[in-house]
Amino acid sequence: MRIAISTGGGDAPGLNAVIRAVVLAAHQRGWQCYGIRRGFGGLLGNDGIMTLNTAAVRGITHLGGTILGTTNRGNPFRWATPQPDGSVAEVDRSDDLIAAFRASGFDALVSIGGDGSLRIAYDLWTKGLPVVGVPKTIDNDVAGTLVTFGFDSAVTTATEAIDKLHTTAESHDRVMVVELMGRDAGWIALHSAVSSSADIVLLPEIPFDIERVCDAIRQREASGRHYSIVVVAEGARPKGGEAMLVERRAAGTVDRLGGVGSRVAAAIAERTGKETRSLVLGHLQRGGGPTTSDRLIALRFGTAAVRAIAAGSFGTMVAYTPPTISTVPLVDVIGRTKLVPLDSDTLQTARDIGISFGD
Ligand code: F6P
Repeated sequence: MRIAISTGGGDAPGLNAVIRAVVLAAHQRGWQCYGIRRGFGGLLGNDGIMTLNTAAVRGITHLGGTILGTTNRGNPFRWATPQPDGSVAEVDRSDDLIAAFRASGFDALVSIGGDGSLRIAYDLWTKGLPVVGVPKTIDNDVAGTLVTFGFDSAVTTATEAIDKLHTTAESHDRVMVVELMGRDAGWIALHSAVSSSADIVLLPEIPFDIERVCDAIRQREASGRHYSIVVVAEGARPKGGEAMLVERRAAGTVDRLGGVGSRVAAAIAERTGKETRSLVLGHLQRGGGPTTSDRLIALRFGTAAVRAIAAGSFGTMVAYTPPTISTVPLVDVIGRTKLVPLDSDTLQTARDIGISFGD
């Protein structure tokens, strides 16, 4: 068997651990692995294919990023192609990709990615490509799996950052507003806010009322707590309002969210008179190596993908369905964003320890 591996979309801590696990589990079976460079670009003339033998994956479990490179602008069904007149058109190059896959003698594809890459994997599967998906994203918003790898690392980074904000906020009697990633899902914001004892957390799933946010700050003020930590998910929106965008992207790709943190900070300062600062934690949440938990889940996912290939279980995604890793059909995963459920125990925990959602 010749296995091709691709990493697509935004990077996430644990990608290299998945790659290593696939290569080692394949090697045990006498199979060979190859890495497609930069998403699917390696099959469409960009950067090519890497041989992934055991030496190539030595010592990479703990490393962030991906040794294969990645892109969130590499959809083979909408491939940006320069035209003779200098313009760039989106061209469906999926047939070229499948032809290149077959010409390379590959028997299976392990596609490691988030919602966008898993959709591409599914579309390729419907065109006959034998594919197994592995759910990756710091956002934890992929359906069908309890967690994606990368999420725990992002939450850990965010929690450590908020811990640091506490000391400076308290020293200066300030309100500190921190904007976190997660797109339309509030997983990173919720888990790090609870873990770091934030005072207010604003999630996409619970539209906020800025007056309620300010009430929570005033109540803390009245009880002698002269500083507050406000965690804002980048996809948070006011009641009756929209999420804020920093960039609208081409059809078929996702818009970039951002800016809500500074907007909330300005509104708090204006309404409460409190000195307020805001920061965007940004790509620090994606950088660095995976936590122990992410390493383990990534290694489990990688070996499970090889077992799925051995079982001929294509058109599927490996998933964490405690206590086991199982496979779920890709068709049941794509197009479904896994949001924080409003009856979630973590959400209830936050309310029970006095964290405000500004609702
Ligand atoms: O999906 C992962 C993610 O980090 C989101 O949380 C964030 O909105 C987005 O990617 C940022 O994308 P980019 O790297 O293109 O700025």
